[in-house]
Amino acid sequence: MNDKQDQMLRFWSDRAATHGADPRANTNDVHLRSLEISYVDQAIKDADPSSILDFGCANGFSTHRLASTHPNRSFLGIDLNRDMIQVASMGHDTRPPENLAFQCQDIEAEPIATSFDFIYCIRVLQNMPSMDAQKGAIDALCEALHPGGTLVTIESYAEGYSILNQDREALGLSPLPIHPHLTLLTPELDEHTGTMLNQVRQDSLSSSYYLITRLVYSSLATQAGEAIDYDHPLHKLAAQVPQVGTYGPQLATIYRK
Ligand SMILES: C[S@@+](CC[C@H](N)C(=O)[O-])C[C@H]1O[C@@H](n2cnc3c(N)ncnc32)[C@H](O)[C@@H]1O
Repeated sequence: MNDKQDQMLRFWSDRAATHGADPRANTNDVHLRSLEISYVDQAIKDADPSSILDFGCANGFSTHRLASTHPNRSFLGIDLNRDMIQVASMGHDTRPPENLAFQCQDIEAEPIATSFDFIYCIRVLQNMPSMDAQKGAIDALCEALHPGGTLVTIESYAEGYSILNQDREALGLSPLPIHPHLTLLTPELDEHTGTMLNQVRQDSLSSSYYLITRLVYSSLATQAGEAIDYDHPLHKLAAQVPQVGTYGPQLATIYRK
């Protein structure tokens, strides 16, 4: 295990210990979560798969919700972090539904044993130590996908981050910090994935959300001398308005094999 992966592992173990089954274990940005889960939910409805893999499921917050919404489809959540998998399996108020199982696995170290109709990953590739590791993960996911199957990735890209930070600077705001264990995505990874899968669409699923929360709300909070509150009504509203344009670091991509 290299230093960056070790740092990442400790980061998520600390979050599992502090937050347990709470959605904050996976990100402080809880309203962004609702946009991500809705996006995957719609993609599942469109593709109508029987078997689904949540790669990098963390504490299983989204897996529990999606598996409960789709009781006739089977779900497997895998994650490298034992502490997260323990919370995912035993730490929620209700036991995982019948159609959901969890497994501790490092995709960099061992191939995925089963095949799936549908695979999704939310903020996982960006948690890998290098682009080579991201490419290796994509190769393993493609391998585990049935012909005609669907892969959905929801990840942060370096270019969108840099534009956002330039705009923050123009407003007198400090740049958004990036955790040292992260490797933001670049178009090169999309090109790599495109050699094995057909890209069906790519969406800026949180465009208005980033504009409102990271520019408008951040400016208002800074002017008022207030700390950033991810539960502020403006965050909730930003997740409810139409997501127009192509702003912010996050891109959701749907591929078909
Ligand atoms: C931001 S969390 C994922 C959040 C989750 N997908 C959700 O919807 O809330 C990133 C997760 O990726 C997992 N991860 C990173 N590298 C991995 C690998 N090589 N194999 C499996 N899981 C990995 C981490 O352990 C961490 O729990």
